[in-house]
Amino acid sequence: MVKIGILGVGTVGESVAKILVDNADVIEARAGKKIVVKSGVVRDLTKERDVDIYLTDNAEEIINDPEIDIVVELMGGVEEPYSLVKKALENGKAVVTANKALLAYHRYELQEIAGDIPLMYEASTAGGIPIIGALRTGLAANHINTIQGIMNGTCNYMLTKMINEGAQYEAILKEAQELGYAEADPTFDVGGFDASHKLLILASIAYGIDAKPEDILIEGIENITQTDVAFAKEFGYEIKLLGIAKNVGEGVELRVHATMIPQESMIAKVDGVMNAVTVVGDRVGETMYYGPGAGGDATASAVIADIVDIVRGNQGPMLGYKKGLESGLKLLPKEQIVTQYYLRLEVDDKSGVLAAITSKLGEFGISIESMLQKPTSDAHIAKLLFTTHKTQESKMQDAIKALETLDVVHGSIAMMRIEK
Ligand code: NAP
Ligand code: HSE
Repeated sequence: MVKIGILGVGTVGESVAKILVDNADVIEARAGKKIVVKSGVVRDLTKERDVDIYLTDNAEEIINDPEIDIVVELMGGVEEPYSLVKKALENGKAVVTANKALLAYHRYELQEIAGDIPLMYEASTAGGIPIIGALRTGLAANHINTIQGIMNGTCNYMLTKMINEGAQYEAILKEAQELGYAEADPTFDVGGFDASHKLLILASIAYGIDAKPEDILIEGIENITQTDVAFAKEFGYEIKLLGIAKNVGEGVELRVHATMIPQESMIAKVDGVMNAVTVVGDRVGETMYYGPGAGGDATASAVIADIVDIVRGNQGPMLGYKKGLESGLKLLPKEQIVTQYYLRLEVDDKSGVLAAITSKLGEFGISIESMLQKPTSDAHIAKLLFTTHKTQESKMQDAIKALETLDVVHGSIAMMRIEK
């Protein structure tokens, strides 16, 4: 029999404990051993829970319990779980975690500490989709060209409802929280940080890139307006929060941002809490992984997959290699990213304004692909919407600053990136 201790019996922890009981027969058949939860850690022992396991508010009880074989970390945060996972590994216990924030900051140290002790994290990225296993093992023969996808269920759920049903931002965020999709602090979801944590994990497995969230371009979905949505529809795009990793030769681009993508692309059709990630390998070509990206049971499914793998004795280095992967490959500075852009600005509605704007963009070498003018409620002010051909991020940022200093431009300029 294998005994589990769960650090954090919330949305995911409760589902793990329940599935291990409800599906005990198939899980035992697949693992080859019976798996039981011995104990769990929570903050508030007075809260009502939907599971019947021994609970404590003292994590050390689990970490130091000689009967516990596998510690499952599902509490969230960064430094506290780091110190607990470290101690558990030092005590010789295998660890499973769904905590992407922890891994975004400490994955390389944890790989060192773990050594040959299994430390698994399938649930950390894209919920129930086995994307970590695919990258660590399934695509091991390949150099990875690109990884691109929807990696945050909360944002995709919100964008789908906002775009298809005109739902209000605050109400739909509350719904995502009630459904157990959002992080304890939902600004991690809507600000793009959660997706960046996942992207960094995938980039470590694929490229060996050792970057932190602070090093990469991260933008969220907070500033998208119904005007952007309408423009996107009119020009054949969907808006999705994407995580993108691309080996562009001189380095690896890593970025998370709201993105306009062609309506006919497969990722554009991924709605609600579903996630989808495409990985292009140099030998396999394009592969795609699709499934629920958040929620108790979907995430617990991935957690239990790791537990079963550990019980079976399957392991290997945490990130899928010991050292020397893609040697010399570096993170590309964000200023050097090259892509297409969408711009939305409010301007004086009078002659010469359009020429002034396009000439300013021209000064930065930015060429316009398409343009639309829309009236506003003020007869003297118009909305201008542009898409550009490919240009460098630094040029676009400089051009926006310069445009915002023009007298004919009102307020700040909204920008979104386009990927085709
Ligand atoms: P949650 O519902 O907030 O549950 C967290 C659990 O940890 C609660 O039981 C909480 O205790 C306990 N806890 C938190 N801090 C603690 C502390 N300092 N000491 C003792 N117990 C503590 O969170 P969740 O949604 O299950 O997420 C758990 C982890 O999985 C996070 O790292 C999250 O990013 C990750 N994850 C979540 C999902 C998802 O869809 N929800 C998907 C993938 C990954 P109380 O119950 O007493 O407050
Ligand atoms: N808050 C995360 C999301 C949970 O919405 O995708 C799954 O990692």
